[in-house]
Amino acid sequence: MKQIILTGIRANNDLTIGNYLGALLPIVDMAKKRAAEYQVNLFVPDLHSFTTPIDHSTLNAQIMQNLRIFTAAGLPLDHPDVHIYRQSYIPAHSELAWIFDCFTGMGEMGRMTQYKDKSAKLSEDRISVGLFNYPVLMAADILLYGATYVPVGEDQTQHLEFTRDIALRMNSQFGELFTAPLPVPKQHEFFGKDQGLRIKDLQDPRKKMSKSDESGKGVIFMSDTPEAASKKIMSAATDSYGEIRFDTKERPGISNLLQILALLGGRNQSVVNAEWEGKSSYGDLKKAVAAIASSFLSDFQARLSQVDGEQIIAKLEASERLMNETANATLLRAQQAVGLRPKA
Ligand code: TYM
Repeated sequence: MKQIILTGIRANNDLTIGNYLGALLPIVDMAKKRAAEYQVNLFVPDLHSFTTPIDHSTLNAQIMQNLRIFTAAGLPLDHPDVHIYRQSYIPAHSELAWIFDCFTGMGEMGRMTQYKDKSAKLSEDRISVGLFNYPVLMAADILLYGATYVPVGEDQTQHLEFTRDIALRMNSQFGELFTAPLPVPKQHEFFGKDQGLRIKDLQDPRKKMSKSDESGKGVIFMSDTPEAASKKIMSAATDSYGEIRFDTKERPGISNLLQILALLGGRNQSVVNAEWEGKSSYGDLKKAVAAIASSFLSDFQARLSQVDGEQIIAKLEASERLMNETANATLLRAQQAVGLRPKA
C-alpha cells in the first residue's frame, strides 16, 4: 500500500496566491514528481465552504472552478494514483466527523486560533456550530484515508495537530483504528521547508493573505489580471528601515515580497535573500515581484482557459467511486469499534 499525500482547498471564494503557494503548489509538485511512490489526493472540502455565511447560489460553480484550478496548476489527472473528489460526495466524511465530535472536548475546539479569530468578527448568534467544530470534519477528511503527509499553510497547523490527537485518542481507547499523519515538523521536512508557510496581506503584512478579506486590496487572487496584481504589489506596505533584509518579525512586508519572489520563481529563499539583502530600493524589489507575479498569472490563466471540463468530470466520478470504497471501509471499522455495527 502506498503512503498517501492529501490536502483540501475550500471553494468559498476565488483562490489566492497564498492558497496556491501554501497548499496547491506543494501537492501538485508531489503529484508530478512522486506519484509513482505515493498516492496523491486533492479534494474540495465543499462542506467546509459555509462555516461562515456565503452566497450559496455560486457554490456549485466555485467547486467546479476549484477543480479547474487544480488542473491548470498542473495536477496530472491521467495518473492512476492521483485523485480529485468532492467531500460531500463521500458521506463517510460527515459520519465519521459525528463520531469524532463525541470524543472531542468543547475546550479543545474553543482554543483553536482560527476559530477565535473568525468568531471574533461575528456576533454570537452568527457563529455557527460548524465553524466551531470544523477541525473535527477536517480530521475525518484526513483519517478516513490514513494520509501520512498533509501539505497545508501555517494557519492549519493546529488542526493537523488535533487530527493526530483524535487519532491517537481513538486508537488508545479502541485499538489500532487510524493511521495518524506524521507530526508537523516531520511534514515540513518532507516538503522541504523549515516551517509552515504564511503569505501575508500586502496592505497589512502582520496578517495572513486571506481569500475572505473584504477589501481584497492586499490579496492577489489567481483570477487577478497581471496588471491588477502588479498594482497591488507596487503599493504593498513595507517599512521605514530603507534597507532590504529578510526578517519576518521586524520587516514582515519586505520579507513577504522576498518570499513571493523566491516561491514563484521556484528558487531557494536564501539565494534570493542574498541577491537583495543590503540594497535600498524597495521599488526595484517590488518591480521584480510584480514581474514574476504577472508572468506567473498570465501563464496560469492561459492554462486555465484550456482546461478540459469533461476530463475533470470523468476523473471526479472515477475517484469518488474509489474514495467511497476506501472511506466506507475505514468508517465501518470505526462504527464497529464504537458499537454501532457488529464486529466481523
Ligand atoms: P483553506 O481552503 O482556507 O485554504 C487552503 C490551503 O491554503 C493555505 N493557505 C495559505 N498558505 C500560505 N499563506 C496563506 N496566506 C494562506 N492562506 C491559505 C491553507 O493553510 C490551506 O492549506 N481547513 C482547510 C481545508 C481542509 C483541509 C482538510 C486541508 C479541509 N479538510 C483536510 C487539509 C486536509 C482550509 O480551510 O483551508
